[in-house]
Amino acid sequence: MRKIKKTIVIMFMMALTAFVLCGCDNTEMQVAQNNDAQEDKLTIGMSFDSFVIERWQRDRDIFVQAAKELGAEVNVQNANGEVEEQKQQIEYFIKKKVDVIVIVCIDSDALSDTIKSAHEAGIKVIAYDRLINNADIDLYISFDNEMVGTLMAQSLVDNGISGGRVLMVGGSPADNNVSLVENAFEKVMKDNNVQIADRTHCDGWRAELASDYIYSHRTLVADCDAVMCGNDNVASQVVSALAVQRLAGKILVTGQDADLEACQRIVEGTQIMTVYKPVEKLAHRAAECAVAMARGQEISGEGVGVINNGKKDLPYVKLEPVMVTKDNMDEVIIDSGFHSEEEVYLNIKQD
Ligand code: BGC
Repeated sequence: MRKIKKTIVIMFMMALTAFVLCGCDNTEMQVAQNNDAQEDKLTIGMSFDSFVIERWQRDRDIFVQAAKELGAEVNVQNANGEVEEQKQQIEYFIKKKVDVIVIVCIDSDALSDTIKSAHEAGIKVIAYDRLINNADIDLYISFDNEMVGTLMAQSLVDNGISGGRVLMVGGSPADNNVSLVENAFEKVMKDNNVQIADRTHCDGWRAELASDYIYSHRTLVADCDAVMCGNDNVASQVVSALAVQRLAGKILVTGQDADLEACQRIVEGTQIMTVYKPVEKLAHRAAECAVAMARGQEISGEGVGVINNGKKDLPYVKLEPVMVTKDNMDEVIIDSGFHSEEEVYLNIKQD
């Protein structure tokens, strides 16, 4: 009888041990599964120059949404035009061990060391819209900036600038896009015998510097046929300053970005053109690339070229910009849903 009792006790103890062990296994398994799920969740750190210019909010919203749909969470930071702030944001992303860092740089020549640290931590880096020079970046994705300059120039030629005088009011000299746009623009001007009356830049893309320039160079400005503006925000300031001299609509003005106000000026006749850059395509493609890179995949396929940034050859995803004038406003801007008809034609009567 005692023997039977002993056997029952032993069996009970064994069952209990098995139950406890099994329970432990389950808990451990659950913890492991949770960790896996967290590891599966991709994170992207994205640092913007600033959101002063209309387009960047669109870039951000589309990128974040597209990344989310592809299974990645995006931590967006705004450097407010401060290079040091941008460096700290990148360092923060490194500390947070994000999978990929996407940067709209403020100064194309200032991030080599910070990007080196990101790479040492095994994090991939994408230069978004603006190239980062002499740095170990993994991808550059942008619009064809040379074409932006060519389109600006072409529109002036189409409007009879040949043999005339143009003033160039460019963007931030620290932005690599600026020299690309300007060099391409100047080439067409040269080919068409157009004299560059003067040139100035808006440091940090501060458009108010453009109106300061126009006010303080009245005689020179009045003697020009056109003002090439680095973007629509600059054009906005230039047109207001020209209006004070009753020159708005008389001097040809160019821009880029297809900002709503620029589209309104085009249909009103105070700006000759803008360049539409389908930001949704850029942001979408960039999100796809970021997620692919986080998963260790190579970026290849249609539209992928190679560019050298002074340090290395790297993949370059190049998208095409489109010239927008009064004539194709409806087709390019309204039909694509970039701006609505009501918004664009807000200030003029329609038949
Ligand atoms: C972009 C423009 C933008 C400008 C100011 C440039 O690098 O290409 O689209 O207007 O920066 O933010």
